[in-house]
Amino acid sequence: MAARRKQTGRRTVAAPPAGASRVRPKTTCAALLEMKRAGLRIVMLTAYDYPFARLADAAGVDVLLVGDSLGMVVLGYETTLPVTMDDMVRHTQAVARARPRALVVADMPFLSFQISPAEALRNAGRLVQEAGAEAVKLEGGERVLPMVEAIARADIPVLGHLGLTPQSVHRLGGYRVQGRDRASRQRIRREARQLEAAGCFAVVLEAVPADLAGEIRAAVRIPTIGIGAGPDCDGQVLVLHDLLGLGLEPPPRFVRQFGAVGAAVRAAVGDYARAVRSGEFPRAEHSYGSARRWK
Ligand code: KIV
Repeated sequence: MAARRKQTGRRTVAAPPAGASRVRPKTTCAALLEMKRAGLRIVMLTAYDYPFARLADAAGVDVLLVGDSLGMVVLGYETTLPVTMDDMVRHTQAVARARPRALVVADMPFLSFQISPAEALRNAGRLVQEAGAEAVKLEGGERVLPMVEAIARADIPVLGHLGLTPQSVHRLGGYRVQGRDRASRQRIRREARQLEAAGCFAVVLEAVPADLAGEIRAAVRIPTIGIGAGPDCDGQVLVLHDLLGLGLEPPPRFVRQFGAVGAAVRAAVGDYARAVRSGEFPRAEHSYGSARRWK
């Protein structure tokens, strides 16, 4: 069936099919817990700006994460370490302006939470109050428990992040799979339970062996969200630019590229450049006459 179209000013957009439900319920932390209980997998995706937040939300993702991966995929840094609170506030505001049905989670950047619980709470509060986040994420295990407790006590939902924690890249010696030896497996398992007890509503497991992720999923009541952690998690998160194929380099092994948007952008921009250079664009239909009929 041909999509119905509707006119909105100068643009034409696809209207929802007749009878389709227009508003899906807003995702909450409680809803994510329910999803785990019901065996429904949680879809999380990063977003860093207004247009992509709208598109991802329209596609039905459950959680939009304004990740500090922003630093690498949008701002061009080598690591996430230079990302500042002001960066996170600016980009979270843009995502929140999309008024998504998805839960908006903002990452706490390097040094915004490590110094003291009070500073962690102040910065988490900024992400909620100034930027419009509905939850915050912070990296780490045992060492960040006092910060998680302080933020959760102020009724700001906290998402934990264990395994490969990119803000620790220099200590870890690179972006390596974590939890491969007995001691670190035990530590990550223990820290997942500690984060749950400290008040996290869910935990991201990044780059850990699939069987360890499965053990943690069974050991905690809160949802586990995997990235490079295999299929045995309660949900999955990917970096938007990886999923869309927007990078110029090959993505990490755990990524599936669901689109070739980077190639489409290059082709379209190449076509535009050729058309301008050859004089084929713009044409009369892209030009205004002098009669001022638009007035
Ligand atoms: O910053 C980020 O995008 C993240 C996800 C990869 C979990 O932390």
